[in-house]
Amino acid sequence: MAVPIIPVLALSAVMLGAVYKYIIHPLFFSPLRRIPAAHLSVPFSPLWILWIRQQGRQNRTILAAHERLGPVVRLGPREVSVNCVRGGLSTVYTGGMEKGEWYSNLFYNYGLPNMFSTNASKPHSTRKRMISNTYSKSNINSSAVLTAQTSIILYERFLPQLFKTFSAQLTETASVLNIYALISAVTMDIVTGYIFGLSASSNLTSNTASCSHFLDLYNGRRSYNFWPQELPGVTRWARKLGIRLVPEFVDAANDEIEAWALSMCDKAAIALEQSSEEKKAGENPISLADTPVVYGQLASALVKESQKEVQKDLNGDPNHPDVAGECQKSLRLTISSELLDHLAAGFDTSGITLTYLVHELSQRRELQSALRAELLTLSPPLLPSSAPVIPDAKALDVLPLLHAILWETLRLHPAIPGPQPRVTPAGGCSLGPDPGFWVPGAVRVSASAGCLHANESVFKKAGSWKPERWLEVDGESRKEMDRWFWAFGSGGRMCVGSNLAIYQMKYIVAAIYSNFATSIVDDSGIEQEDAYTAPPKSDKLMIQLERV
Ligand code: HEM
Ligand SMILES: *[C@@H]1O[C@H](CO)[C@@H](O)[C@H](O)[C@H]1NC(C)=O
Ligand SMILES: *[C@@H]1O[C@H](CO)[C@@H](O)[C@H](O)[C@H]1NC(C)=O
Ligand SMILES: *[C@@H]1O[C@H](CO)[C@@H](O)[C@H](O)[C@H]1NC(C)=O
Ligand SMILES: *[C@@H]1O[C@H](CO)[C@@H](O)[C@H](O)[C@H]1NC(C)=O
Ligand SMILES: *[C@@H]1O[C@H](CO)[C@@H](O)[C@H](O)[C@H]1NC(C)=O
Repeated sequence: MAVPIIPVLALSAVMLGAVYKYIIHPLFFSPLRRIPAAHLSVPFSPLWILWIRQQGRQNRTILAAHERLGPVVRLGPREVSVNCVRGGLSTVYTGGMEKGEWYSNLFYNYGLPNMFSTNASKPHSTRKRMISNTYSKSNINSSAVLTAQTSIILYERFLPQLFKTFSAQLTETASVLNIYALISAVTMDIVTGYIFGLSASSNLTSNTASCSHFLDLYNGRRSYNFWPQELPGVTRWARKLGIRLVPEFVDAANDEIEAWALSMCDKAAIALEQSSEEKKAGENPISLADTPVVYGQLASALVKESQKEVQKDLNGDPNHPDVAGECQKSLRLTISSELLDHLAAGFDTSGITLTYLVHELSQRRELQSALRAELLTLSPPLLPSSAPVIPDAKALDVLPLLHAILWETLRLHPAIPGPQPRVTPAGGCSLGPDPGFWVPGAVRVSASAGCLHANESVFKKAGSWKPERWLEVDGESRKEMDRWFWAFGSGGRMCVGSNLAIYQMKYIVAAIYSNFATSIVDDSGIEQEDAYTAPPKSDKLMIQLERV
């Protein structure tokens, strides 16, 4: 019998190729082989880190790997984690590496990109230039629109809700407050108010039922993110074979959230249109609080950008009356994809941070009193009797104890504690402190706030919540703390909303602690979820209010 010589040769070649690619090259030739491996198998296969991620044990595993192996560790055949400033944050983030598919796999809305989920630097910076000034520190702290909105939300929605709960507690002892849900509602109302104008925005603070419905939709999806984000190909193939790795209700929740954001965009568009007609008629245009600041700026910048294209389609008549309207219509989902991301990023992260802030303060009565004394120095203080005037944003911003309490919470409980992946550039780069490790192009690399913030030589007793550390230390040690503080990320892809976040969080804390003392009733499940944005596992923190 003749040996089928050609198939045998072909098979041997394939097998030899595979042995080279998966065993010989990783062991002897890959430049990545010099980087300490978090697990024996990582030079050969990504299965270990995928398993860790699927099990929700990524955060503690990466931290333990850095503690064991140093500032650069290898997590997979083409993945590393860094935990240092020089050769780490400064190379990867300030250095402007691109984001890769990890973001576009999951964070598109309506199938369309936005600033956050865009991979390449150029379209990202074009978009960021259009809107970043609406979130700049000088705009946030002096915006008459935002002041009017914050006053209404705090005095007419949030404080009444706190007082209502408090009165209920006096009569029925069982009445306790899920402060995680209420705070998420307020942050949503402030963020959507600023984006869309108050009349087009959410009203979750006064409507507990709509708030819990929204949070169920939003948080119910989280544990299924793993599949489309880490294994998009497998997820698609399984779906073709009739296997749903992501249950149907997740798609339904996405649809409902997208429809909700789009309805706010449409309302903001109508409000703007009416106001320009009223202006023409010499009437009073839109009220301050109803001005859609971010929507207005983004829509007009995008319309301007695409007007030229549409003009071409309309037979070159640059003065065609339909041009702006056409653009606006065709951009409806583009605008909504961007702003849905802002409202999600904006409410979720601030809500998480404040929940941990209340949790820490609720265990420290004396610190609450000290904070209250500081808050009552504001003029006017944030008490119902001061309505509708709120204390000046700048005065609030410079209160030292309030700032230290917020900063320490962002350090110990960063809302985005885990990896923020980037992709090394085509020519490769060096990672880690001098001399560093050479890493080729197209390798996934990330740092994690949770790991950076756990460095004992920068943050003494790093595992404890100690706001004093931000008050007592200055000089070089303080600068070192600032360099390692990474709650908002860094570089060109850093949080665009950090000033709005700090603004709203400080006002919300001031509203609570100027009027009440808090204590914990039930904090089971308060540990942070091991997820990209990391709320308490239980999605709740039950507290009791006491009038002071
Ligand atoms: C405590 C509050 C907040 C925290 C801790 C936080 C944290 C972060 C972090 C770490 C990033 C970078 C993420 C990455 O590269 O993977 C980011 C980006 C972003 N954040 Fe925030 N954020 C907060 C509040 C807000 C608010 C209020 C907004 C409102 C508009 C916002 C909008 C955004 C956007 C649009 C990006 C993408 C920026 C870009 O790609 O250029 N965030 N945030
Ligand atoms: C986007 O990400 C991929 C990796 O996921 C990378 O290969 C590519 O070069 C990146 N940049 C652009 C401009 O697409
Ligand atoms: C707002 O912030 C800018 C930049 O930090 C600062 O220069 C300015 O004095 C602030 N203005 C007010 C009114 O708080
Ligand atoms: C917000 O909801 C509450 C309760 O349903 C309602 O009384 C209030 O008028 C609403 N405010 C706005 C601006 O829609
Ligand atoms: C990371 O996980 C560990 C172990 O579960 C937990 O103690 C820690 O609080 C987490 N840190 C963050 C920032 O999520
Ligand atoms: C902590 O930070 C110092 C620099 O201040 C650095 O030398 C050290 O390697 C870091 N430790 C860890 C565990 O990352």
